[in-house]
Amino acid sequence: MRELPLLFDSVGVSIGATPLLTDLSLTLNAGAPTLVIGPNGAGKSTLLRLAMGLIAPTRGRVTWGGHQDPAPRRRAMVFQRPVMLRRSALQNVTYALEQAGVAKETIETRASALLAQVGLQDIAHRPARRLSGGEQQRLALARALARDPELLILDEPTASLDPAATRAVEDIIAQAADSGIKILMASHDLGQVRRLAGEVIFLSHGRLREHSAAQMFFENPKTPLAQAFLRGDIVLET
Ligand SMILES: Nc1ncnc2c1ncn2[C@@H]1O[C@H](COP(=O)(O)OP(=O)(O)OP(=O)(O)O)[C@@H](O)[C@H]1O
Ligand SMILES: [Mg+2]
Repeated sequence: MRELPLLFDSVGVSIGATPLLTDLSLTLNAGAPTLVIGPNGAGKSTLLRLAMGLIAPTRGRVTWGGHQDPAPRRRAMVFQRPVMLRRSALQNVTYALEQAGVAKETIETRASALLAQVGLQDIAHRPARRLSGGEQQRLALARALARDPELLILDEPTASLDPAATRAVEDIIAQAADSGIKILMASHDLGQVRRLAGEVIFLSHGRLREHSAAQMFFENPKTPLAQAFLRGDIVLET
């Protein structure tokens, strides 16, 4: 079963009387990365969790490739702070491959290839929890890629990394996108959005304010809120 197009149809999420997302409709197709931006509390993580099927909408519906079953088949998600198994880097990847149902005899080769893809082949046998933040994030990407995703969802994966580690992670993301994986990613770093985005989703107060090609968004943001956000004004969610 396919994961794309990912469709949000008049989606709302509320907790009690508090709306986190309101009347959000959008379609994501295969293609260049979609970056989700907006102030703290705008609803970015909520949108990504819906896209992953981790939470259900309280209104409207989310569908993947035309079906409504939230069980992830070929989608994977990476968070800002990954949680590693108390095992080696390599074992973290082989575990993910086992979970993805990869044939036993190919797991070793695939795991080595994935570690090489994220540049961790030389430290394959180190305990994953001893790796640096940047290395752990690359390992988290290797584990996500082990699922052979059609849709890869990333929630601020470089938010706590330094520039060199950020660049290494961005390279992996760009390479994944080039290989045909659809990336849906939240970011606070407008430079990063410029580097990676094919299109941009701008959220504020739980509402979708803009969904446009990245170039259009940066050159000609339609809403005053997005204009203020791009200028670097403090845009508060109150
Ligand atoms: N389980 C919850 N219960 C109550 N409120 C919640 C819950 N989860 C999120 N919220 C609220 O919903 C709003 C949107 O949260 P969300 O995490 O989606 O924002 P975000 O755009 O990802 O923010 P950030 O930039 O800080 O990561 C916030 O005001 C948050 O406090
Ligand atoms: Mg968030």
